[in-house]
Amino acid sequence: MIEFQSETRRVRTSEANPVGGRPDKPQPGRGEVLIRVHAAGVNPADFLAEDGEKSCVVKTKYPHGRGLCVSGIVVAKGANVATHDLGSAVFGHVPKVGLDTCAEFVPVPASHVREMPANTGFREAAGLPLVGSVVIQAFDRAGLRAGDHVLIHEGGGAVGSFAIQYAKFLGATVFTTTSTENADWVRGLGADSVLDYQLVDYRDIVHDLDIVLDTLGGDATFSAFDVIRTGGTVISLFGPVDDKAARRLGLNPLVRQVLWFKARELRRKAREKNARYRFIPMMPETRHLATLRDLVETGRLRPVVDATGFVSSSATDALAYQEKGRAKGTIVVDFAG
Ligand SMILES: NC(=O)c1ccc[n+]([C@@H]2O[C@H](COP(=O)([O-])OP(=O)(O)OC[C@H]3O[C@@H](n4cnc5c(N)ncnc54)[C@H](OP(=O)(O)O)[C@@H]3O)[C@@H](O)[C@H]2O)c1
Repeated sequence: MIEFQSETRRVRTSEANPVGGRPDKPQPGRGEVLIRVHAAGVNPADFLAEDGEKSCVVKTKYPHGRGLCVSGIVVAKGANVATHDLGSAVFGHVPKVGLDTCAEFVPVPASHVREMPANTGFREAAGLPLVGSVVIQAFDRAGLRAGDHVLIHEGGGAVGSFAIQYAKFLGATVFTTTSTENADWVRGLGADSVLDYQLVDYRDIVHDLDIVLDTLGGDATFSAFDVIRTGGTVISLFGPVDDKAARRLGLNPLVRQVLWFKARELRRKAREKNARYRFIPMMPETRHLATLRDLVETGRLRPVVDATGFVSSSATDALAYQEKGRAKGTIVVDFAG
């Protein structure tokens, strides 16, 4: 046994399954397929349960595993699974945080996986499900239309690198924040204007935007209202949880009331600008997997996977790397080797 020491919790693990507590070869339950994992996607969401502020919105039990996204081969089917041939290559996600995909075998509801894009490898496919579906939901919720001016924070990250491409595909003009090192690279993803956060303050440069996609949280969520136009929209993946999102997450009335109280200053900022604020909760939607496959197969989007290679025996290093927040694209752990 080895142990992964997170900031606040200790997660017990095994050599074969370095970041989780599940048996090495579980049986698929009713409605599930068993996937022999080729690659697992690691996301900041893996740490939300340990984040003081966000832990109240992420329901998980301890000890728990890591990794939400997966690609691999279907090797067994539980009862009531009519879809997915044995031997087919699939990509998808587990239903909630804490059910790890960083394992040799992973049982997943059949409804949560789809056939992989024909033109990608397992690594690229494992990086898509969470990031892709969250971005689709975010811009859908924002009502993004062709011609809109959109600011996307953290353009070099997993979400940002996908969001830039998707917003361009929808016809937006894209502004993005990133470091000097990544400036040319995010331009290559399609960003029209790159705001180097090491050299400039984006608040001095962009104004009257239609939409801000906030991934930074904290002050950046508030500042978003200073750079949108009157009647604009702020969509946040890391800011305060608004009541609609809290209801979607099924939070109890007391927690909702606390969150509502904490978001009062944000509501005031939104009112001043006659603007909308929406938090997008971490709930990957299966229906978006088919959209993602189509976007990738038709060459309209390409999955962006961080070049740092991690294999099953270094999965804990992948998690440590994720915590540093310097990834270029999605972090993927290779289990096929
Ligand atoms: N609500 C949800 O459902 C949901 C889903 C997915 C993600 N999220 C949240 O969205 C956020 C982004 O996730 P992610 O997976 O994209 O993270 P990530 O891949 O870890 O982001 C890393 C990137 O952030 C960039 N970065 C760091 N500080 C920055 C700054 N001040 N300005 C601009 N860029 C900066 C880094 O670029 P440099 O190296 O160039 O600095 C790096 O490329 C996280 O907070 C995550 O929790 C929420």
